[in-house]
This record gives sequence, C-alpha cells and structure tokens, in this order.
Amino acid sequence: MPVLPLRTVAPAAGMTRLSEEWLADLDAALRAEDADWRRTCRETLFQLAHPGQGSWEERVADTSLPMASRLALEAFDPANITLEPEYYADVDPERFARVKPLLWLWYTFDRLPIGGQHVALGVMLRRVLAPHVFKRVGANFKCFQHVEVSFGYNLEVGDDVVVHRHVLLDDRGGLVLGDRVSISDYANIYSHTHSIVDQQDVTCLRTVLEDDVRVTYHATVLAGVRVARNGMVGAAAVATKDVRPYHVNVGIPAKSVRVKPNAPPELVRNARLPEHPDGS
Ligand SMILES: CC(C)(COP(=O)(O)OP(=O)(O)OC[C@H]1O[C@@H](n2cnc3c(N)ncnc32)[C@H](O)[C@@H]1OP(=O)(O)O)[C@@H](O)C(=O)NCCC(=O)NCCS
Repeated sequence: MPVLPLRTVAPAAGMTRLSEEWLADLDAALRAEDADWRRTCRETLFQLAHPGQGSWEERVADTSLPMASRLALEAFDPANITLEPEYYADVDPERFARVKPLLWLWYTFDRLPIGGQHVALGVMLRRVLAPHVFKRVGANFKCFQHVEVSFGYNLEVGDDVVVHRHVLLDDRGGLVLGDRVSISDYANIYSHTHSIVDQQDVTCLRTVLEDDVRVTYHATVLAGVRVARNGMVGAAAVATKDVRPYHVNVGIPAKSVRVKPNAPPELVRNARLPEHPDGS
C-alpha cells in the first residue's frame, strides 16, 4: 500500500491570526478567576451565529422579536437546554453542570456555518475546551467535528490522540484513551450497558484503549472492553471482548484475524491464532 502522509494545509494567514486571537481571548475568559462559563458560552455562540448583531444580552431583552427568534436566542444559554446525559441516574449533577456550558459550546459550534466543516478552527477550539471538560487530556489532541461524549469528566485522553468525525465517546463508566490512539469516523466506544431484562438496570464499566490502538470506521467497542496496545478493531466490527496487543480483530463479534507484523516476537509466539503465520 502506498504511504500517503497528510498534506499540510492552512487557512489564509489573516484568518489564522484572527482565529488564534479569538481563541486566546476565549481561553483567558475560561481560565479567569471569576470565569462564568455559562455567560461565555451563550455570548460566544451568539457572536459566532449572528456576527455584528450586538450582544446576546441586548437581543434577548428585545421582546418585540418573533417568538421563534426569542426561543432561538434563549437556547444559546446552556441553562435553557437539556443534554441527554443529564437524564442519566448515574450523572454527577454538580460535575456535569460544570462542564455543560462547554459541551454546549462544543456541540453547537459544530452546527454553525463557521464550525461545521472548518477543520483547522474546530481542532483549535476543541484543544481549548477539552482540558476543562475531560478528566485529563494530553498534548496535540486532534478532534474533528460532530464528536460526542457522555459526561466528559470521566474521559482520560493521552498524547497525540486523533478522534475523527461523528465518533461517540461514552465515558459514563470511565473511558481511557492511551497515547497515539486513533478512532475513525462513526466509531462508537461505550462504557455502559443495559440489562436484557430491565432497560433501567445499567452497568457502567471502564473501557480502555491502550497506547497505539486504532478503532476503525463504524466500529463499536462495548463497555468494559480493553483493547491492548497496538490492537486494532476493523471496520464495522463490534468488539465485545478484550483485544490482545497487536491483534487485528474484525467482524461481529470481533475476532482476531491476524497479529500485526510489527508485533514483538514474544507476542507473536503467544498469539494462538488459527491463521497464525507460524501455525502456533
Ligand atoms: C482491519 C483491517 C485493516 C484488516 O486488514 P488486513 O489485515 O489487510 O486483513 P485482510 O484484508 O487480509 O483480511 C483478513 C480476513 O479478515 C476479513 N476482514 C478484513 N476486514 C474485515 C472487516 N472489517 N470485517 C469483517 N471481516 C474482515 C477478510 O475478508 C479476510 O477474510 P478471509 O481470510 O476469510 O478472506 C481492515 O479490514 C479494515 O477494517 N480497515 C479499515 C480501514 C482503516 O484502516 N481505517 C483506519 C483509518 S484511520
């Protein structure tokens, strides 16, 4: 297969400068001693959605506006909307209330003209928000658009992690992404599950993707699964059980079809795969 590293592209210099200045301002507002994340969220969303239209405070006070406009304006305020994880019985209301404004800013940005497909700005914005939302996030976090988390505060992310578009990171039971983990488009990683008898009987289990794991397109990793270092979950697979280090698991339920050729020899020897190259 040809090696195709990503090309280096960037918006025009002026746009990059403006983006950096805006994000520095936002970062300072979020880190300020008297920070008010709710206020910052609604004002930021208003400015991005209605450039040059004054302030949220001014517009929302205008009772002559049509009802739908007033409703849309009110919805920029995170206190006026509900997010699905708030309904979960196991949510920590205090911790969720803390991160909610930033989650609302994150998700709503993705649905604005400026956010939807603007990769460079979106990645930079999520780098500003993630340290406040997640339990931990390492260097160079690269997160594309339309990614959702459950609580956010139970998510641990290592260095150089890439999360592609439309990924669900369910951290209800705790989710750990090691260094250099890559999660492809439309993948779902769960850390909670429901009883087959009683839907309300929920088990939360910590899910772990160790260093250098790749979960590929449309794959699902179920709650409590550990994908060991350098393991890979193939396209559209459902990982119901642990994946061994350097193994490539595919299908439903996902089973190992090979060990990566770069696996350390002791792992290859212990692989015990039917198709294993040395027949062990
Ligand atoms: C996991 C994957 C890399 C496996 O590739 P591979 O090691 O070259 O495996 P092969 O193509 O030789 O397939 C081995 C066997 O598994 C099967 N298989 C491969 N991928 C499968 C999948 N996703 N689901 C079900 N079966 C699969 C093959 O049909 C083959 O079966 P066979 O032996 O009965 O013919 C590949 O299937 C995949 O999912 N690629 C996703 C693309 C990707 O890398 N995305 C990340 C981008 S960031």
